[in-house]
Amino acid sequence: MPSAADLITSLTATVPDFPKPGILFRDLTPVFANGEALRVVTDALVEPFRGEVDAVAGVEARGFVLAAAAAYALGVGMLIIRKPGKLPRPHLSQSYDLEYGSATLELQPDDLPPASRVLVLDDLLATGGTLSAAIDLVQRANWTVAGVSVVLELEGLGGRAVLAGHTVRSLVTL
Ligand code: PRP
Ligand code: HPA
Repeated sequence: MPSAADLITSLTATVPDFPKPGILFRDLTPVFANGEALRVVTDALVEPFRGEVDAVAGVEARGFVLAAAAAYALGVGMLIIRKPGKLPRPHLSQSYDLEYGSATLELQPDDLPPASRVLVLDDLLATGGTLSAAIDLVQRANWTVAGVSVVLELEGLGGRAVLAGHTVRSLVTL
Protein backbone atom coordinates (compact mmCIF):
# COMPACT_ATOMS: atom_id res chain seq x y z
CA MET A 1 0.00 0.00 0.00
CA PRO A 2 1.45 3.45 -0.89
CA SER A 3 2.28 5.70 2.05
CA ALA A 4 0.54 9.01 2.69
CA ALA A 5 3.73 10.83 1.67
CA ASP A 6 3.97 8.86 -1.62
CA LEU A 7 0.34 9.62 -2.47
CA ILE A 8 0.68 13.32 -1.62
CA THR A 9 3.89 13.68 -3.60
CA SER A 10 2.55 11.92 -6.69
CA LEU A 11 -0.91 13.56 -6.74
CA THR A 12 -0.25 17.20 -5.72
CA ALA A 13 -0.36 19.57 -8.70
CA THR A 14 2.08 22.50 -8.86
CA VAL A 15 0.73 25.63 -10.56
CA PRO A 16 3.03 28.59 -11.34
CA ASP A 17 1.79 32.17 -10.94
CA PHE A 18 -1.46 31.35 -9.07
CA PRO A 19 -3.27 33.26 -7.63
CA LYS A 20 -0.67 35.99 -8.31
CA PRO A 21 2.52 36.20 -10.39
CA GLY A 22 5.48 34.70 -8.53
CA ILE A 23 3.44 32.30 -6.35
CA LEU A 24 4.07 28.58 -6.95
CA PHE A 25 0.71 27.16 -5.87
CA ARG A 26 0.48 23.59 -4.54
CA ASP A 27 -2.99 22.28 -5.37
CA LEU A 28 -4.12 19.34 -3.23
CA THR A 29 -7.50 18.81 -4.87
CA PRO A 30 -6.23 15.68 -6.76
CA VAL A 31 -5.39 14.18 -3.34
CA PHE A 32 -8.96 14.87 -2.17
CA ALA A 33 -10.36 13.43 -5.40
CA ASN A 34 -8.55 10.08 -5.01
CA GLY A 35 -10.41 7.75 -2.64
CA GLU A 36 -7.37 5.83 -1.44
CA ALA A 37 -5.35 9.02 -0.94
CA LEU A 38 -8.12 10.77 1.00
CA ARG A 39 -8.44 7.82 3.37
CA VAL A 40 -4.70 7.20 3.84
CA VAL A 41 -3.90 10.92 4.24
CA THR A 42 -6.75 11.48 6.71
CA ASP A 43 -5.64 8.52 8.84
CA ALA A 44 -2.04 9.82 8.82
CA LEU A 45 -3.12 13.33 9.83
CA VAL A 46 -4.97 12.15 12.95
CA GLU A 47 -2.89 9.12 13.96
CA PRO A 48 -0.80 10.74 16.79
CA PHE A 49 -3.87 12.48 18.22
CA ARG A 50 -6.20 9.45 18.51
CA GLY A 51 -7.95 9.44 21.92
CA GLU A 52 -6.62 12.91 22.74
CA VAL A 53 -9.12 15.23 21.05
CA ASP A 54 -12.74 16.19 21.63
CA ALA A 55 -13.24 17.88 18.24
CA VAL A 56 -11.47 18.69 14.98
CA ALA A 57 -11.48 22.26 13.60
CA GLY A 58 -11.21 22.81 9.84
CA VAL A 59 -10.14 26.09 8.22
CA GLU A 60 -12.22 27.22 5.22
CA ALA A 61 -12.15 26.03 2.55
CA ARG A 62 -9.80 23.12 1.93
CA GLY A 63 -9.41 22.44 5.64
CA PHE A 64 -13.12 21.57 5.75
CA VAL A 65 -12.57 18.55 3.49
CA LEU A 66 -9.87 17.12 5.74
CA ALA A 67 -11.48 18.04 9.04
CA ALA A 68 -14.80 16.38 8.19
CA ALA A 69 -13.02 13.17 7.20
CA ALA A 70 -10.75 13.37 10.27
CA ALA A 71 -13.63 13.97 12.68
CA TYR A 72 -15.39 10.89 11.27
CA ALA A 73 -12.18 8.85 11.56
CA LEU A 74 -11.71 9.89 15.20
CA GLY A 75 -15.39 9.61 16.13
CA VAL A 76 -15.54 13.24 17.31
CA GLY A 77 -17.31 16.40 16.14
CA MET A 78 -16.13 19.09 13.74
CA LEU A 79 -15.87 22.88 14.11
CA ILE A 80 -15.81 25.25 11.16
CA ILE A 81 -13.40 28.21 11.13
CA ARG A 82 -14.87 30.45 8.45
CA LYS A 83 -14.12 33.40 6.21
CA PRO A 84 -15.95 36.57 7.41
CA GLY A 85 -19.69 37.13 7.26
CA LYS A 86 -20.79 33.50 7.16
CA LEU A 87 -21.53 32.66 10.81
CA PRO A 88 -25.07 33.50 12.04
CA ARG A 89 -24.53 33.35 15.83
CA PRO A 90 -22.10 35.29 18.10
CA HIS A 91 -18.54 34.76 16.87
CA LEU A 92 -14.92 35.72 17.41
CA SER A 93 -12.92 37.35 14.57
CA GLN A 94 -9.17 37.24 13.95
CA SER A 95 -7.32 39.01 11.12
CA TYR A 96 -4.02 37.72 9.70
CA ASP A 97 -1.53 38.14 6.84
CA LEU A 98 -1.35 35.68 3.94
CA GLU A 99 1.49 34.88 1.55
CA TYR A 100 -0.61 36.79 -0.97
CA GLY A 101 -2.74 39.32 0.95
CA SER A 102 -4.60 39.59 4.24
CA ALA A 103 -7.75 37.96 5.55
CA THR A 104 -10.00 37.33 8.55
CA LEU A 105 -11.28 34.09 10.10
CA GLU A 106 -14.26 33.62 12.42
CA LEU A 107 -15.43 31.00 14.91
CA GLN A 108 -18.58 30.42 17.03
CA PRO A 109 -17.36 29.73 20.59
CA ASP A 110 -20.73 28.41 21.77
CA ASP A 111 -20.43 25.34 19.56
CA LEU A 112 -18.33 23.39 22.09
CA PRO A 113 -17.93 23.41 25.92
CA PRO A 114 -14.97 25.29 27.50
CA ALA A 115 -11.72 23.30 27.94
CA SER A 116 -12.48 21.01 24.97
CA ARG A 117 -9.35 19.66 23.24
CA VAL A 118 -9.30 20.72 19.59
CA LEU A 119 -7.13 19.40 16.75
CA VAL A 120 -6.76 22.11 14.06
CA LEU A 121 -6.50 20.88 10.45
CA ASP A 122 -5.68 22.54 7.16
CA ASP A 123 -4.32 21.41 3.81
CA LEU A 124 -1.15 23.49 3.81
CA LEU A 125 1.20 25.44 6.09
CA ALA A 126 2.91 28.33 4.29
CA THR A 127 3.62 31.52 6.29
CA GLY A 128 1.59 30.18 9.22
CA GLY A 129 -0.67 33.23 9.29
CA THR A 130 -3.84 31.22 8.72
CA LEU A 131 -3.14 28.53 11.30
CA SER A 132 -1.86 31.09 13.80
CA ALA A 133 -5.19 32.94 13.50
CA ALA A 134 -7.08 29.63 13.81
CA ILE A 135 -5.12 28.79 16.99
CA ASP A 136 -5.83 32.25 18.43
CA LEU A 137 -9.56 31.73 17.81
CA VAL A 138 -9.54 28.29 19.47
CA GLN A 139 -7.74 29.69 22.51
CA ARG A 140 -9.99 32.77 22.69
CA ALA A 141 -12.96 30.35 22.74
CA ASN A 142 -11.41 28.85 25.94
CA TRP A 143 -10.58 25.56 24.26
CA THR A 144 -7.20 23.80 24.28
CA VAL A 145 -5.19 23.27 21.08
CA ALA A 146 -4.38 19.54 21.04
CA GLY A 147 -2.21 20.02 17.95
CA VAL A 148 -2.07 21.15 14.36
CA SER A 149 -1.95 18.79 11.40
CA VAL A 150 -1.41 19.65 7.73
CA VAL A 151 -0.83 17.68 4.56
CA LEU A 152 1.89 19.92 3.09
CA GLU A 153 4.40 22.25 4.76
CA LEU A 154 6.23 24.80 2.61
CA GLU A 155 9.37 24.95 4.70
CA GLY A 156 10.91 28.08 3.19
CA LEU A 157 8.04 30.29 4.36
CA GLY A 158 8.71 29.76 8.07
CA GLY A 159 5.24 28.76 9.24
CA ARG A 160 6.48 26.24 11.79
CA ALA A 161 8.32 28.97 13.73
CA VAL A 162 5.16 31.09 13.78
CA LEU A 163 3.34 28.15 15.44
CA ALA A 164 6.09 27.58 18.02
CA GLY A 165 4.84 26.01 21.24
CA HIS A 166 2.29 23.79 19.46
CA THR A 167 2.62 20.24 18.20
CA VAL A 168 2.67 20.59 14.40
CA ARG A 169 2.40 17.48 12.23
CA SER A 170 3.01 17.76 8.47
CA LEU A 171 2.93 14.73 6.20
CA VAL A 172 5.17 16.16 3.46
CA THR A 173 7.63 19.07 3.61
CA LEU A 174 8.64 20.89 0.42
C1 PRP B 1 -4.56 28.58 1.85
C2 PRP B 1 -4.35 27.23 2.51
C3 PRP B 1 -4.12 27.58 3.94
C4 PRP B 1 -3.38 28.90 3.85
C5 PRP B 1 -1.92 28.69 4.08
O1 PRP B 1 -5.88 28.96 2.04
O2 PRP B 1 -5.47 26.37 2.32
O3 PRP B 1 -5.35 27.76 4.63
O4 PRP B 1 -3.64 29.42 2.56
O5 PRP B 1 -1.21 29.90 4.00
P1 PRP B 1 -0.45 30.60 5.22
O6 PRP B 1 0.24 29.51 6.02
O7 PRP B 1 0.53 31.50 4.53
O8 PRP B 1 -1.45 31.34 6.01
P2 PRP B 1 -6.57 30.19 1.31
O9 PRP B 1 -6.45 31.40 2.18
O10 PRP B 1 -6.01 30.30 -0.09
O11 PRP B 1 -8.10 29.80 1.33
P3 PRP B 1 -9.00 28.70 0.59
O12 PRP B 1 -8.72 27.36 1.25
O13 PRP B 1 -10.39 29.17 0.87
O14 PRP B 1 -8.65 28.70 -0.87
N1 HPA C 1 -1.21 26.16 -2.05
C1 HPA C 1 -2.34 26.29 -1.35
N2 HPA C 1 -2.54 27.24 -0.47
C2 HPA C 1 -1.55 28.11 -0.28
C3 HPA C 1 -0.36 28.03 -0.96
C4 HPA C 1 -0.17 27.00 -1.89
O1 HPA C 1 0.88 26.85 -2.53
N3 HPA C 1 0.45 29.02 -0.51
C5 HPA C 1 -0.28 29.68 0.43
N4 HPA C 1 -1.47 29.12 0.58
